[in-house]
Amino acid sequence: GAAVEADISALKPGEMMTVEWRGKPVWIMKRTPEQLAALKKIDPQLADPNSERKPAELTPEYCRNTHRSIKPELLVAVGICTHLGCSPSTKFQSGPQASLPDDWPGGFLCPCHGSTFDLAGRVFKNKPAPDNLEIPPHMYLSDSKLLIG
Ligand code: FES
Repeated sequence: GAAVEADISALKPGEMMTVEWRGKPVWIMKRTPEQLAALKKIDPQLADPNSERKPAELTPEYCRNTHRSIKPELLVAVGICTHLGCSPSTKFQSGPQASLPDDWPGGFLCPCHGSTFDLAGRVFKNKPAPDNLEIPPHMYLSDSKLLIG
């Protein structure tokens, strides 16, 4: 499939954009310093915090870290649930809710069967989705241009 170029120059901290690559939605999210700091704290609640499962298929070598990205602030992930393929949506609402993990720091919630992912696309334990969200192969052509594929 053809690689896709994305202009990320207008993306502000806390914002997300979606581009299409090989018929799949790819999220590009610029995380705030607070959101990045929250990632490390929830490791114990995650199924695969270091993305060690199926690394070649789901997480390129250069994204096998807590933030699952090349540039710490910029998440690039395929927005398709690893359970049965629904599209999760962002969820930032805080406070105790039966459907959300403890100390919910914000992330992605799949509407189909309730799988939850953090802002690095890492899946929480005890949810039907078996794996973290896929990180597509990508590279930066410049500070404002990202190449996916
Ligand atoms: Fe996402 Fe089932 S498809 S939880």
